[in-house]
Amino acid sequence: MQKLGVVITGSGSATPATALDNQELSQRVETSDEWIRSRTGIRARRLATASESLSAIATQAATEAIAMAGITPAELDLILLATSTPDDLFGTACQIQAQLGATKAVAFDLTAACSGFVFGLVTAAQYIRTGVYQNVLLVGADILSRWVDWEDRRTCVLFGDGAGAVVLQANESDRLLGFELKSDGTENRCLNLSYKAQSKQLIQGVNIGHGTYQPITMNGKEVYRFAVQRVPEVIDKALFRANLSVDKVDWLLLHQANQRILDAVAERLKIPPHKVISNLAHYGNTSAASIPLALDGAVRQGQIQSGDIIAASGFGAGLTWGAAVFQWGR
Ligand code: ACO
Repeated sequence: MQKLGVVITGSGSATPATALDNQELSQRVETSDEWIRSRTGIRARRLATASESLSAIATQAATEAIAMAGITPAELDLILLATSTPDDLFGTACQIQAQLGATKAVAFDLTAACSGFVFGLVTAAQYIRTGVYQNVLLVGADILSRWVDWEDRRTCVLFGDGAGAVVLQANESDRLLGFELKSDGTENRCLNLSYKAQSKQLIQGVNIGHGTYQPITMNGKEVYRFAVQRVPEVIDKALFRANLSVDKVDWLLLHQANQRILDAVAERLKIPPHKVISNLAHYGNTSAASIPLALDGAVRQGQIQSGDIIAASGFGAGLTWGAAVFQWGR
């Protein structure tokens, strides 16, 4: 029988060693541990030093996921890296491929901000379901500290750096039970890390735009409203596609943006707090890394068990948002 189903067989994660807690951050901007904790649930975040690359933490997370899956890097067919902060704008997935020695794998980056992991999961699944590839590595990794405005207390308190990875494999039964993805570029201005160009004259009559990316800007209130309204809708839709009622969900695994968003979404869906996975206190918002980082933590702590149903949802810049309902384990 042809294996056209998808199973997630391994997870891994990695974060930089340097931690910065709220108290320490208040030495830099006018804020307090109390303000940050009560508004976001964040207590500390990990930050990459100048010598720590995205590809290095991504490869570390990937190595753990591959080991848990019980395969070798040489068996990988495809490597997807969900990131908004590549080491190289031409793409960083190939560097992970080289560092792993995944000689057979084709590798490329995918950008959908904080939705990147869920978008990547669905993309990976399509290659498996069409019978093209059998073993896919999906990494979600971001070093947003490179692009945070460290003078802006409204944003710098929120973000942290990290990487998480999963291995998806072809299987006779399909454990990706339902998904829904969405984009709305008309709301793009809510959250940006945009390129700004100055006109530069090359020769008389020929000008180009030459510049760089600008630090993150965000309308916090609008992002909050967007997440609380849209995330329950896509989870409902993904559950409908999976033919599951909400009470069958064992774990709600949301992009770790803000504890208040996690609580509000869970309440709207009537999912009790003990089913909500959260690692925000330790890592803050790690963008594309946040879902696989939280997933791997919960798996390794024995919270998530084989057969558990997980409703995952990513949301963020673009705007993009999406949900995937899957069953953990073989
Ligand atoms: N410390 C102390 N005071 C602060 C800080 C800070 N770090 N940041 C803002 N303030 C002040 C503001 O200056 C403002 O003061 P003012 O009234 O004197 O002008 C006051 O606190 C309230 O500011 P708001 O921006 O209105 O704060 P709000 O209650 O909306 O909370 C927050 C801000 C936590 C960002 C909230 O809007 C939120 O949760 N938004 C969701 C956005 C989010 O999670 N983004 C993550 C990235 S996007 C993603 O991953 C999807």
